Amino acid sequence: MYPAEDLAGAEQRLRDFLIYRFGGPQRYIEQRGHPMLRARHLPFRIDRAARDNWMRLMNGAFAEAKLPAEAEQVLRQFFEQMSVHMINQ
Ligand code: HEM
Repeated sequence: MYPAEDLAGAEQRLRDFLIYRFGGPQRYIEQRGHPMLRARHLPFRIDRAARDNWMRLMNGAFAEAKLPAEAEQVLRQFFEQMSVHMINQ
């Protein structure tokens, strides 16, 4: 689903969003405006299986990143909830 020609851009947008959402610099907002995440995901077909796959990959990222436990807990809970909200099929 992700744009093969702009994976670095996709990574940057997700990173900037998370930095903004958890109290850091507002670059995401400056560059992208209001997140409207559900609307921005509508062009992609996200069913339960796609959501579960996304969470599985994100769990792999957590295993690699080895964040402090409390940071991982906060992010994990956020992703669990938000990813269900993105289901649009
Ligand atoms: C449920 C499974 C999900 C799938 C399959 C999915 C897929 C995608 C895809 C294909 C894009 C476009 C990539 C790009 O930026 O060019 C995207 C963008 C994005 N996604 Fe997701 N996503 C999912 C869940 C989430 C969740 C849970 C979050 C936040 C916690 C999130 C945050 C974002 C953000 C911030 C962008 C960039 C929006 C923009 O400014 O254009 N996504 N996602």
